[in-house]
Amino acid sequence: MDFINCNLAPKTGIFEIQTYIEETEKNTLLYEEKNFDKRMEAIDFIEFQVIDHIEGLLRKTTQPDKLILLKYSIEKIKSQLEEININLFQKLRANIRIGRYTGKELKNLINEYVDFNLDYNEHQEEIGYDNLDIFINGLSPLQTMPEQTKDLEPEMVYYQKTPARVVFELVDKSHFMKEDVFFDLGSGLGQVAILVNLLTGITAKGVEFEPAFCNYARDCAAELNLRNVTFINTDARKADYSEGTIFFMFTPFKGEILQEVLEILRKESLLRKIKIITYGPCTAQVALQSWLDFAVPKDDNIYKLGVFTSF
Ligand SMILES: C[S@@+](CC[C@H](N)C(=O)[O-])C[C@H]1O[C@@H](n2cnc3c(N)ncnc32)[C@H](O)[C@@H]1O
Repeated sequence: MDFINCNLAPKTGIFEIQTYIEETEKNTLLYEEKNFDKRMEAIDFIEFQVIDHIEGLLRKTTQPDKLILLKYSIEKIKSQLEEININLFQKLRANIRIGRYTGKELKNLINEYVDFNLDYNEHQEEIGYDNLDIFINGLSPLQTMPEQTKDLEPEMVYYQKTPARVVFELVDKSHFMKEDVFFDLGSGLGQVAILVNLLTGITAKGVEFEPAFCNYARDCAAELNLRNVTFINTDARKADYSEGTIFFMFTPFKGEILQEVLEILRKESLLRKIKIITYGPCTAQVALQSWLDFAVPKDDNIYKLGVFTSF
């Protein structure tokens, strides 16, 4: 019986749950390190279907003993599966620290664990996260998000992560040269700058208003021993962009702040050609700048990357 990818029917009883547990225990594929996608499906199914279902049954029964044992067994399987991921990520992080994976090697390696079809982005009409995000989160040496310590101004946008799939697409579409310097404006916890550096080897910098996020990003880069990734804790209106050639924005701010930052970038573009890559609602405002050319066919879907080059 294939339980995964279906919802447990309300009438699923102890016998079926027992069968699922036995089948999962015997499914050696789930315990092979490489089968990350399948393992994540199983972990999700256990957490959101099986355990939830057992808890529902427990609320209704006066004879809970058998169900309590089943819950214990399935939680144990879930921990074993999670342990495989924890060990996998520890190993990968150690290899990143010693510079073992660079650029294409890292991409190929990730591809061995997670389905990587970037065409999927073409059809996304909203922000979507998937197993690739879970995998990339696993590479992060820090797992607890810090609290915001400063109030944002009304035009500043709260932290939300760019989906990892979009960062891979960004790398694909940007045709980075080794002398490029990448900036993420409003870099949050630093994932975009770190991933761009890991996938391309180019210098990457993040500019972030919130000191706690900036410190977190710095600590991640230091733990991974990434010397060409730096984070600057300042308002994007005050940062020094003199080295930058490629600027990414996942709508970090809007309105006048965005216009002010675009004006700073326009001045930089008088000194050298620059590229601006946008994701989310800010794309519409960037598309209005007469000094920028839309480098990819114009598209109204704001959750498709906008790629602009200066004239
Ligand atoms: C939508 S999040 C993007 C986070 C990051 N780029 C990523 O994709 O993981 C926007 C970020 O911009 C930051 N931000 C907002 N206004 C800013 C400003 N004026 N200067 C620098 N950072 C700013 C916020 O604190 C937040 O972390």
